[in-house]
Amino acid sequence: MKNNLLTILAIFIFAALILTACGGSSEPTYSAEDVAAGGVIFAATCSACHGPDAKGLPNLGKDLTTSEYIRDNDDEDLLQLLIGGRPSGHELNTTGVDMPPRGGNPSLSDDDLRTVVAYMRSINQ
Ligand code: HEC
Repeated sequence: MKNNLLTILAIFIFAALILTACGGSSEPTYSAEDVAAGGVIFAATCSACHGPDAKGLPNLGKDLTTSEYIRDNDDEDLLQLLIGGRPSGHELNTTGVDMPPRGGNPSLSDDDLRTVVAYMRSINQ
């Protein structure tokens, strides 16, 4: 009887450990297609201010490769930032320069911008 209880306890602990391990790796993964499509959009629309290497351009756009904002926010938050932009009067704006809605390209759909989020994840350290 005592042995059975110990076995059940051991199974519980084991299951809890596995669940914890899986929970820690719940980060979304991005398909190579999305990253590539986002890179094409980035080069066409975002690089004008953020630079072709996404390292930023003086008085235009911030360095996205080292951006803590990208690192610390989830995909939905990043999508909302891209949709709405960040005007110079916004509380999070640090440069006094506008980040335009949809990067200034209204023809980009939300799904287009999702691929750009995937691309930003791939370049952000
Ligand atoms: C007209 C110039 C311009 C264009 C085009 C532009 N941005 Fe920006 N972006 C900015 C500026 C300026 C900021 C910084 C605003 C601030 O001070 O917080 C910014 C901020 C950002 C941030 C937040 C970075 C951080 O660390 O806070 C992200 C992410 C971003 N841009 C992504 C993009 C993407 C993706 C595109 C293309 C779809 C794009 N931007 C197009 C000017 C631009």
